[in-house]
Amino acid sequence: MELCTTKAAIRASVQRWRASDSAPVVLVPTMGYLHAGHMTLVERARARAGAGGRVVASIFVNPTQFGPSEDLATYPRDPDRDTAMLREAGVDALFMPDASEVYAPGAQTIVEPTELSRILIGKLRPGHFRGVATVVTKLFNIIAPDAACFGEKDYQQLCVIRTMVRDLDMAVEVIGVPTVREADGLAMSSRNVRLSAEDRAAAPVLNAALGEAEALAADGVTATRLRAHVRARLEREPRADVQSVDIRDAETLAALSGPLERPAVLLLAVRFGAVLLIDNRVVTP
Ligand code: PAF
Repeated sequence: MELCTTKAAIRASVQRWRASDSAPVVLVPTMGYLHAGHMTLVERARARAGAGGRVVASIFVNPTQFGPSEDLATYPRDPDRDTAMLREAGVDALFMPDASEVYAPGAQTIVEPTELSRILIGKLRPGHFRGVATVVTKLFNIIAPDAACFGEKDYQQLCVIRTMVRDLDMAVEVIGVPTVREADGLAMSSRNVRLSAEDRAAAPVLNAALGEAEALAADGVTATRLRAHVRARLEREPRADVQSVDIRDAETLAALSGPLERPAVLLLAVRFGAVLLIDNRVVTP
């Protein structure tokens, strides 16, 4: 695996591959502290790239997607372990730059998603999706992949990226990869390690509430009642500080209230102590 810490180095690797053959290059962007969910993204990338193609992973804890009072400083990091995991998984190149390499002093340009970035998580974390859209655009411009894999756990992020790629005519195929869960149903996340033992034991309530919603949706319950049921289920867990429970059109993220006529997505944001967990489930009427 080639380890590149500069834009010039990763660009040179990709250009060398492109000069030798036309096999696909597939990117897996991450913020590191890898777990089985990330490795599923790598497997999906390998499948998309095919036998002769290349998989590039990036590890960059992007400062511009964290608010001033958020967990940038304490975001978990383990670059040596991450590098070993990616090498073992057969990744062709790892791009792991410093913030100063990615963001030149005096930079003037950002990518600002409009409506989609002001709702849901965007309301709880103003500026978050501007930071995500800007860094993903930069990664696409630096690496020029044919395709890129993103987890469905960050459902709104996936919608923001798909919309950005469509709106800005980016020639990158966006591949959504299903959420990977622990044995007790908790969605895998690098933030899970920061949960206290008590909060870790309580956190599977998110998946339990989503499972109940799935069954209720199949019985024809309205969006409003589904949302109320999930909120009440979460609020019965004393350690869960419910930030938001939303039900939206699964494709457009438009708000829903009446009977479900198309697939809808339930989106949860719940704090356990200082840790904000998110999860979601697409339900069908
Ligand atoms: O999902 C993530 O890990 C990050 O938001 C991403 C897409 C790597 C951008 O920093």
